[in-house]
Amino acid sequence: MGQGGNESAAELSAGWFAEVFDHHPDGLLVADDQGLLVYVNPRAARIVGIAVPELLGQDIRKAIPLQEYDGRPWWDCTDPWNGLAIRSGHRERLLVIPGVHEVLVTARYVRPGRGLPVSQVVVAIRDAEARRRAEANSSALISTVAHELRSPLTSVKGFSSTLLRRWDRFTDDQKRLMLQTIEADADRVTRLITELLDISRIDAGRLQVRKQPVDIYAAIERHIERFVASGYERERFALSGHEAALPEVWADPDRLDQILANLVENAVRHGEGTVSLNVAPAGEDDDEVVAVTISDEGEGIPSENYPMIFTRFWHRSRRGGTGLGLYVVRGLVEAHDGKVTVGKAPSGGAEFRFTLPAGAPEHVR
Ligand SMILES: Nc1ncnc2c1ncn2[C@@H]1O[C@H](COP(=O)(O)OP(=O)(O)O)[C@@H](O)[C@H]1O
Ligand SMILES: [Mg+2]
Repeated sequence: MGQGGNESAAELSAGWFAEVFDHHPDGLLVADDQGLLVYVNPRAARIVGIAVPELLGQDIRKAIPLQEYDGRPWWDCTDPWNGLAIRSGHRERLLVIPGVHEVLVTARYVRPGRGLPVSQVVVAIRDAEARRRAEANSSALISTVAHELRSPLTSVKGFSSTLLRRWDRFTDDQKRLMLQTIEADADRVTRLITELLDISRIDAGRLQVRKQPVDIYAAIERHIERFVASGYERERFALSGHEAALPEVWADPDRLDQILANLVENAVRHGEGTVSLNVAPAGEDDDEVVAVTISDEGEGIPSENYPMIFTRFWHRSRRGGTGLGLYVVRGLVEAHDGKVTVGKAPSGGAEFRFTLPAGAPEHVR
């Protein structure tokens, strides 16, 4: 407070504004009519990597040598001090500070009157790292996808060309083996494309869930049968829980199948030993949700990886895979207002648990 409390309202509000600008999440810089920096907030100093006291009094054009993408100095292009006296500023531009990185820059030229030289230039800079990361993320998606599509397609192409050109040279068994490989690879491509379409729906919040009463227990049994039919030993699966003891659950049967397929596949592919599946009522009164637990006896997942595991592309194993499965699982479970978590099974393996709300959705009650 000012001495004797006679600080003027203007001074008070100036102090208040300075404080607001000091805490502003974007970098703010003010240069005077000569281009010398008269104000720099801490965020701006952090972005350009120079301390506030070192920046103050410097020529903004030298202290912050913004460049266009092609390397042209931005200050020469815009030149608020000598350029057209009617310009009032600049919209957001992606520029480069040499040696720092990309920044998003907006500028406002303050003139005491129309057509007069600038009295102040106010510049806001924002770190463009996050945007660049988001872009890198989508180009990582493209390259993962391209890579994942190429290997099955190469094998489809290779085997079908070979069969067409040398049909008579192979035995029936050899032909069958090649056709089976082609089929499996075509399935892989289809699955990947389905995952990608789901990801784009999840990301856009457009995932549709068509709920109807489902029998989770029977769905799990079906998945076990499928894995057994595709060559896994029945002894690898242990289902517990009681079909009769379960409250009614409404879910999208296709989505539920996708969730189960992903988690069971992970357990057999990334885990080891017996895959234990359990379905039981859970929640505070034991009837709010139905919880499905899938655990295995493999090496499990280190707890420091738990926060990453449901993100896109995260994978640790050398056994192939896109790292998209669990991202899709989480999106699907959450679209049902359920939750999915990861933990350690009693055997030390990985344990995945997801819940689905019990009871019919409100509109059919
Ligand atoms: N049951 C499990 N045991 C050990 N690691 C697992 C298990 N389930 C998933 N993981 C790890 O999580 C990663 C991500 O899984 P997911 O998103 O399904 O991708 P993908 O199966 O395509 O690799 C896997 O690559 C694996 O490293
Ligand atoms: Mg997977």
